[in-house]
Amino acid sequence: MGILRRKPKKAGQALSVLPRHVAIIMDGNGRWAKKRSLPRSAGHSAGAETFRRIASYCRKLGIEYLTVYAFSTENWKRPKEEVDSIMNLLRRYLKEAIDSMEREQVRIKVLGDTSVLDKDLQELISRTDGLSHQIETKTQANLCINYGGRDEIIHAVREWMNAPDRQELTESELSKYMYTSGIPDPDLVIRPSGEVRISNFLLWQSAYSEFYFTDTLWPDFNERELDRALESYAKRDRRYGGVKG
Ligand code: IPE
Ligand code: IPE
Ligand code: MG
Repeated sequence: MGILRRKPKKAGQALSVLPRHVAIIMDGNGRWAKKRSLPRSAGHSAGAETFRRIASYCRKLGIEYLTVYAFSTENWKRPKEEVDSIMNLLRRYLKEAIDSMEREQVRIKVLGDTSVLDKDLQELISRTDGLSHQIETKTQANLCINYGGRDEIIHAVREWMNAPDRQELTESELSKYMYTSGIPDPDLVIRPSGEVRISNFLLWQSAYSEFYFTDTLWPDFNERELDRALESYAKRDRRYGGVKG
């Protein structure tokens, strides 16, 4: 507590320990829309807006990596109309990112099996990727699309098996073949919407992550909510299985 009070309480800056990598399960869009008698697609649209705000807030705070779960390998089970509306939001977001990346100063990376997405989306993803490599910035937003933690592990094992230069199979060796290769594990995983489960998100990477759950639905999530999660994180005692004096 003492550490947190020493500095003035200004958004994010009062924190002595800022996570390097924050991951968020952007959940609750459908319930948000239902409460307002709106179609689920309106909830996804509002959720995309929240993502823009939170990504820019993370850049302001100096958080290095923000990883968001936008579409899971299981979300294909939803009605085609809903899936299409999510893919259209993704299209719009990537086009916008291509135009404004320099100004926004946030690199974008897509994580997941993108090979089954529509060709134009795959093209937008590779253009975004190309541009991201040219941007000098501290913040990277990772969008998990057609992402599943189990699928990622299988994919990594297959890639490893086919790699001509593969090393002996160890945890760090397999990590190199994950979609998150080169990205540090998430320090903090946030799930809004009141659900207390992982839903196949970053299974390998979250082994020692701190978790934060809130009832707030994702479209209602805001800077203040992220501050609360960061304050909670700053008080955690991460032991990684060891003991601390
Ligand atoms: C999260 O919101 C977005 C996706 C899973 C694509 P939901 O659509 O799951 O919203 P709820 O959980 O039905 O409220
Ligand atoms: C997790 O939310 C996936 C995303 C937020 C993209 P879901 O709404 O799909 O998860 P469940 O079905 O409640 O576990
Ligand atoms: Mg949900």
